[in-house]
Amino acid sequence: MKAIQLTASSLTAFRATELPDPKAGPGEVLVRLRAAALNFADVAVATGAFPGATFPMVPVADGAGEVAALGEGVDAMGLGLVVGDRVIPHFMPNWQDGAMTPRNIAAMRGITLPGSLADYVVVPATSLVTLPAHLDFVQGATLPIAATTAWNATRSAQLRPGSVVVLLGTGGVSIFALQFAKAAGATVIIASSSDEKLERARQLGADHLINYRATPAWDEQVLKLTEGRGADLVVETVGGATFARALNAAAMGGTIFTIGFVSGSAISIDLLPIIVKALRIIGNSTGSAADLAEAARAIAAHRIVPVIDRVFDIADTAAAYAELSAGGRHFGKLAIAH
Ligand SMILES: NC(=O)c1ccc[n+]([C@@H]2O[C@H](COP(=O)([O-])OP(=O)(O)OC[C@H]3O[C@@H](n4cnc5c(N)ncnc54)[C@H](OP(=O)(O)O)[C@@H]3O)[C@@H](O)[C@H]2O)c1
Repeated sequence: MKAIQLTASSLTAFRATELPDPKAGPGEVLVRLRAAALNFADVAVATGAFPGATFPMVPVADGAGEVAALGEGVDAMGLGLVVGDRVIPHFMPNWQDGAMTPRNIAAMRGITLPGSLADYVVVPATSLVTLPAHLDFVQGATLPIAATTAWNATRSAQLRPGSVVVLLGTGGVSIFALQFAKAAGATVIIASSSDEKLERARQLGADHLINYRATPAWDEQVLKLTEGRGADLVVETVGGATFARALNAAAMGGTIFTIGFVSGSAISIDLLPIIVKALRIIGNSTGSAADLAEAARAIAAHRIVPVIDRVFDIADTAAAYAELSAGGRHFGKLAIAH
């Protein structure tokens, strides 16, 4: 099969190659991959910042494709999978449901397992989620990491009509969170470095827009917009540069869903806002295949269409990585079509 390999921890060490076709073993499925989508984690792998990868490897965690063959025993598992089904393989195939454990998150596609830049991949049948009918392969490929995380974020705060959600930036996770939060009837306040991106967010339903370059004290603006009450949920996608402001922007009993480190992960903070406002600081590492399945069902029910900024040809993989690692140029997701 044709594949792209990353041969070293470098943003440019990609090579097109031929690899043996994989075969599905018992309980496994052979998937013909059709598309992939990038996440910050893929860039972290390529820059050596994400532990666990060994080179050469087939990169990119997220993808989508169709069932090409079923391994022994898959029919008897009652999953209803047949050849030709359009599917999304989960990023952490051994984490099927329930709480994470060191064991079920050890295997990660595009990091410790082959990723999505190959014609075929073999995965456990139980890690496959049905691609929502209204999405194509490229749109479906954007779901495993970003949509699952955004779904878990909005679920963590039990959003209801009138809940206030703050989103930082307009990357993949924030834009899925915007779509899920609006589907739940929440009021969304979104911060971005770009007025043009803010306008695009408004068209997707964002209620209040803050340019964090023009208004660095965006937390005070959140308090003003909510008449001093603050946000029920802050999706903390940025990390070091914003965490203290996220605490200030939160309402009493509010949730800081802590996932991002685009601006670094080491900080010194004042604990008082957490104590005095009884905040819930929730860490998250993507989610299980069941979480992805639930996110996909929500996407199907609300006919949410993933927002994709650019689709690169697989031959232009290095350009796709360069675009993501440049930081802040894209809106939503970057994808790669096979
Ligand atoms: N732990 C988990 O479960 C999990 C899962 C998925 C992702 N993540 C992490 O979450 C983060 C975001 O992921 P992503 O895929 O959405 O990334 P992304 O698509 O690269 O988006 C990052 C966005 O952050 C915004 N940003 C940068 N500095 C900012 C600042 N100081 N204030 C506000 N916004 C700022 C920028 O938005 P503008 O251009 O609009 O300014 C940028 O586009 C990454 O660190 C990623 O590793 C964690």
